[in-house]
Amino acid sequence: METLQAVRGMNDILPDQVGWWQRVERTAREVLENFGYREIRTPVVEKLDLFSRGIGENTDVVEKEMYAFEDRSGDWIALRPEVTASIARSYIQHKLYADPTLQKFYAIGPMFRHERPQKGRYRQFHQIDAEVFGIDSPMIDAEIMHMLRIFLEKVGISGVTLHINTLGCPECRKVYREVLKRYLTDKGDEFCPDCMRRRETNPLRVFDCKVERCQAFLDGAPALIEYICNDCRTHFDAVMEMLDKLGTPYVVDPKIVRGLDYYMRTTFEVVTDRLGSQNAVGGGGRYNGLVQDLGGPEVPGIGFAIGMERLIMLLQQEQQAAVQAPDAFIAAVGEHARTGAFLLLQQMRAHGLEVEMEFESRSLKSQMRRADKLGPRFVFILGEDEINRGEIQLRDMQEKTQQVLPLDTAALTLSQMIGKNSPEPVCSEPGQCGCAAQGGSGTVSQE
Ligand code: HAM
Repeated sequence: METLQAVRGMNDILPDQVGWWQRVERTAREVLENFGYREIRTPVVEKLDLFSRGIGENTDVVEKEMYAFEDRSGDWIALRPEVTASIARSYIQHKLYADPTLQKFYAIGPMFRHERPQKGRYRQFHQIDAEVFGIDSPMIDAEIMHMLRIFLEKVGISGVTLHINTLGCPECRKVYREVLKRYLTDKGDEFCPDCMRRRETNPLRVFDCKVERCQAFLDGAPALIEYICNDCRTHFDAVMEMLDKLGTPYVVDPKIVRGLDYYMRTTFEVVTDRLGSQNAVGGGGRYNGLVQDLGGPEVPGIGFAIGMERLIMLLQQEQQAAVQAPDAFIAAVGEHARTGAFLLLQQMRAHGLEVEMEFESRSLKSQMRRADKLGPRFVFILGEDEINRGEIQLRDMQEKTQQVLPLDTAALTLSQMIGKNSPEPVCSEPGQCGCAAQGGSGTVSQE
């Protein structure tokens, strides 16, 4: 029978990888909450219209990459390709704009795009997303990029560069659109069919084309930054000035036009040269018209999203595996010893310690091999002789030392050595193992 596989481009995150994800998520929550962002969770499925209206009909994401389908009630729905439009929808639907304290949101979760899978590009991928509504000041543009930098530093990423640009406002873009259209038309009909069409409908989207020939034509294209109006120029200058003051380095890059239509003014990407062609670890920008376009009030917005798979790939390139070794392993030889070890294991867990043992009857040698694989610093050895004497051997694998401990205080001794002590351990040996527990009913067999 054919074995079933996950859907192409959608990956399992296996236990030996999960440590990386948890670490990244923990750091993200810490940094985002420190900057006043509050978590929001929106559905993975939304009405298709939300994305076509929010992201733009002529974008690659909407035209080619959406998981869209008609459900059993005949409604057109889509798996979210990004979460900015969803958060804006929720912001409008629940009138969150009425609460002045609710302006900054973050979301962490899976997104879906039907792209051709390759290294760093998947069909289900995960983002850490941050959005700010209601603040138009260039200060927040600078702060959000500064926060992104702090997050990347805290999580341990180096060697990435912040690229920034401005897309101007709809007014200056109107002028630029015509200039760009003329430039593209002068280049003749050598563009790919998509670009030929977009040249007419949405010329800025030609910049998103991945066909090399089209990219080569764009090398000498006029830059939008040269056509922006005074207000947009002042905004961009102020953003740069603030970034300078904050000491957050950046490069002005006129190619950062982003692939989604809602952007205006500030856009940015965090770029690496270590992930092949998928070089953007994260990106974002200002989207002052989005809330209104989706039927809400006139509220400005800015945000970004980081691709977690790409971020973790970079981290793994830079750092040793974040495999969590347990605190200790208990090897037991003999039936009584195994029962004693099992009860001791529960005592240790009640102390908040992460401890493993072998549940099947195995030789000491094979148990020590397993301990080696798991990599704890401490290994306890319990044989029939030890259990009869009420003792246990403790090996410190790091210091290469061995000592004999009283069995009934072994859990407490280990938690003191490790510096982990749960406030109120639920101990199976109340009053005897030395902790302040109120107790369960089991005992460590001393027979
Ligand atoms: P985006 O640039 O489309 O922006 O995606 C943000 C990040 O998600 C990318 O830089 C990349 O790291 C990751 N990413 C995108 N597609 C894939 C994929 N197929 N496989 C793996 N990773 C991927 C947005 O999504 C905007 N909503 C960001 C934003 C928030 N703008 C304002 N607020």
